[in-house]
Amino acid sequence: MAQEADIADLKQCAGSEVVISGWLAGRRSGGKIVFLLVRDGTGVCQCIVEPGDAVAFGCAETLSLESSVRVTGTVRADKRAPGGAEIAVSDIRVIHAADGDYPISRKAHGVDFLMAHRHLWLRSGTQTAILKIRHTLIRACRSFLDELGFTLVDTPILTPGAGEDAQSLFPVDYFGKKVFLAQTGQLYLESACMALRRVYCFGPTFRAEKSKTRRHLAEFWMIEPEVAFAELDDVIQLAEDMVRSVVSEVLKLHEHDLAHLGRDIASLTKVRKPFARISYSDAVDLLRSEELGGRLAQEMEQDRVRLEEQIAALKQLEARLAKTGNSREHDHIADNILSARETIAELEKDLASRPDHIQSARNFQWGNDLGGSDETIISGHFETPVFVTHYPREAKAFYMKILPEDRRLVCNMDLLAPEGYGEIIGGSQREEDAAVLLERIGESGLDPADYSWYLDLRRYGSVAHGGFGLGIERILSWICGLKHVRESIAFPRFAGRMDM
Ligand code: 4AD
Ligand code: MG
Repeated sequence: MAQEADIADLKQCAGSEVVISGWLAGRRSGGKIVFLLVRDGTGVCQCIVEPGDAVAFGCAETLSLESSVRVTGTVRADKRAPGGAEIAVSDIRVIHAADGDYPISRKAHGVDFLMAHRHLWLRSGTQTAILKIRHTLIRACRSFLDELGFTLVDTPILTPGAGEDAQSLFPVDYFGKKVFLAQTGQLYLESACMALRRVYCFGPTFRAEKSKTRRHLAEFWMIEPEVAFAELDDVIQLAEDMVRSVVSEVLKLHEHDLAHLGRDIASLTKVRKPFARISYSDAVDLLRSEELGGRLAQEMEQDRVRLEEQIAALKQLEARLAKTGNSREHDHIADNILSARETIAELEKDLASRPDHIQSARNFQWGNDLGGSDETIISGHFETPVFVTHYPREAKAFYMKILPEDRRLVCNMDLLAPEGYGEIIGGSQREEDAAVLLERIGESGLDPADYSWYLDLRRYGSVAHGGFGLGIERILSWICGLKHVRESIAFPRFAGRMDM
């Protein structure tokens, strides 16, 4: 009897007869042989069907893409095969013959089309690689904190008021009362850390961000540790250790998946070095400096050259397409043309916005929050992730502790990832003085009555404490080298889109 096997385990089954269950992901014929690519969620396997068995062969030749199948055959170790093994097929059972018009072909599709077919797009090798890395990342974040003795405390999704900024709240009707989807679990965690000392929450958070950027989702997952008897430096150290630990874990387990995504991992390996630190005020000086202006102008020139090279390459592809008579080659070139056009459109858009970004960096006003383009420019100055600390109080949330030596500033940090990925962590030491906190609540236009329980934490045994939030989709986008955060979650929610 043939053994049921996962494709991931086939290498250990060389010589034996197995049955795999999966979906038909591709087919090609070479001479008289048909090669089927079957994926089963654990891997992809090449299945070789020879004309000897007429039933299996007929099936292999005609079966439509994404049909579900059970394939029986003998495993052969082969270094060249994906996964290191292939199957010489003796039998194919069709579980369900897919309709012949599977919407996602091997041709390049635009992202809009793919997003509208997200339920099927998830089956692609790229998307499964991202989902697997996401799983490891989340497990690594949780293990890191678990091993340090943190207790997971689940915080509510339905909340009476703002945890971050009042502009990005999603209202919900709660038995006739207007409440909001949680923007953060932090305020509740502050309460829990006074009971359990080291706590964290992990869950979905919601921000009605209307801006359509590569970095913003309306629903995203955040892991938030909170620690009692901790100051800003302790929070920074925890964040650095955590990022280092989770990136190392992904690098250790997903070399193959990262290669599949075409990720150049050079910047990821640099997390081994101590992370850079810069104060907000020094970052502002950097943005406005002549020296930086020079570097940015030079980078723009290099990108212009790259754009011209891409346009020349596109022209060559178009000329080849016009000449070819072979339909396979035609499809292949058409594919490359589509992706070359997408790259060019992106580069053009990027270049067009660059002068504005440079201008706004040069004119940056102390007191404002850093924008996405400012973050990109600052992080471009460092090879490791960089902590930007001590922002002006008016740019940040009400709960951040005022710096005693300079009351214009708060004890906070944002961690910016390299390569233009921007903020992946935001955190701070919390204001522990009830009177100052009350003043800050008023200053932010919030109703003190909504926060009376939160103020209690400052009345009964207040201690220095702090924590941070790590956005899973942001750090995953950086780790995987994704252009847009929308591919970092199975079913993304962002301004103007909810396909399913
Ligand atoms: O900086 P934020 O707003 O901080 C907080 O929510 C704090 N309460 C966290 C804390 O101290 N416990 O958000 C934290 C992180 C950001 O650094 C970013 O990684 C992610 O959450 N994030 C988003 N990710 C995707 N889409 C959005 N709209 C995001 N907004 C924040
Ligand atoms: Mg932030």
